[in-house]
Amino acid sequence: MNQLNASGLNIILTGFMGTGKSTVGTILAECLGRTCLDTDLLIEQKTGLTIAQIFEKYGEEHFRDEESRILLNLNKYPPGSLVVSTGGGIVLRAKNRNYLRPNGLIVLLTASPRAIQGRINKLSGRPLFQEIKTGEDITKMLARRRECYHDCDYIVDTTGKSCRQVAREIMLKLGLK
Ligand code: S3P
Repeated sequence: MNQLNASGLNIILTGFMGTGKSTVGTILAECLGRTCLDTDLLIEQKTGLTIAQIFEKYGEEHFRDEESRILLNLNKYPPGSLVVSTGGGIVLRAKNRNYLRPNGLIVLLTASPRAIQGRINKLSGRPLFQEIKTGEDITKMLARRRECYHDCDYIVDTTGKSCRQVAREIMLKLGLK
């Protein structure tokens, strides 16, 4: 992948549940003096409901519509001022991927199914938790989503790394300090 000039571009973190997007996003934003936006949090603030409640009351498609609407607000911020942590399924819609692409550098965080499983307790509040209880479930969902995730500019494997290490690695890759 070509080295892109990252300083004037938003950083958009994508990836499966449990790859550390939210924590890495917070650290990155702090280090780079940028604003951190977390799409899940923005949806919860906007609706006054947890993600699990939205899934339960209105279903997944409604939640996906909320995600698409949240993305439209990104261009209200100056380019290069944001680190955006996205929900793990935001890239499933081609429309969302097409919207994200010109709005920043997309950094995909990955982790092995085993590592994701090891972090799984932290995921138990997720509505899709029931679908990813075993390593095999995770492998299958990752395979189904692979193409959507790999529509990105950079890939950083988080397996065996702390969120701070991952944030440092992203800054190095992007030539940002
Ligand atoms: C989802 C991931 C979650 C959240 C929702 C759906 C997914 O975000 O948006 O539960 O489809 O992968 P995290 O990736 O932050 O867990």
